[in-house]
Amino acid sequence: MTMMDDKRYLTFALGKGRLAKDTMALFEKIGITCEEMKDKDSRKLIFVNEELKLKFFLSKGPDVPTYVEYGAADIGVVGKDTILEENRRVYEVLDLGYGKCRMCVCGPLKAKELLEHHQMIRVASKYPNIAKDYFYNKKHQTVDIIKLNGSVELGPLVGLSDVIVDIVETGSTLRENGLEVLEEICPISARMIVNQVSMKMESERIKKIIQDLKEILLAELL
Ligand code: PRP
Repeated sequence: MTMMDDKRYLTFALGKGRLAKDTMALFEKIGITCEEMKDKDSRKLIFVNEELKLKFFLSKGPDVPTYVEYGAADIGVVGKDTILEENRRVYEVLDLGYGKCRMCVCGPLKAKELLEHHQMIRVASKYPNIAKDYFYNKKHQTVDIIKLNGSVELGPLVGLSDVIVDIVETGSTLRENGLEVLEEICPISARMIVNQVSMKMESERIKKIIQDLKEILLAELL
């Protein structure tokens, strides 16, 4: 038995959808591949690269930090929005640069006044923790936060809320619905997160991955 055979699997949790595709495209550039994952008809949940002793699975974005905190995955890739919202005990080690968007307070222009005068307003969001942190801790404004699960722009349109806290990418959803960015909270992009124990126990392999990715990302900037 060679040393290679003794290696344990490193497990990656990836947020389903475009983020996972972009992530695998980036990983390919540093030699981390998974042929099994490319089969679109497959219903498999876990994909393996036996040679490199790697496992990959896809999950809902908000579950990625959970899998990583508990060590069910050593490494995760997920949006900064989800990392902030879930607030799990994980190490955020790398900004991968894609999935760029902004976390914003949005609403009809007339809501700007309510924000400026620190009125008691209603805020609808898929991100109640981010909204709470922003209004309570940064703006010191008491607001009523209403959790929604999607199509949050409906909030002000149907009179559920005065404003929303949501991600804005191209801005077309806002534009097509007569809403605007009223305040910017923070920039968002895809991040790599690592389990705190894995970072110590598998530090050589994980640090190599981080280093290789850093080099590729830097080269792409040039
Ligand atoms: C996201 C976000 C906005 C939209 C922003 O929604 O919540 O609605 O994208 O993108 P844009 O600025 O390019 O228009 P998503 O498509 O993830 O669906 P959801 O509304 O169900 O959350």
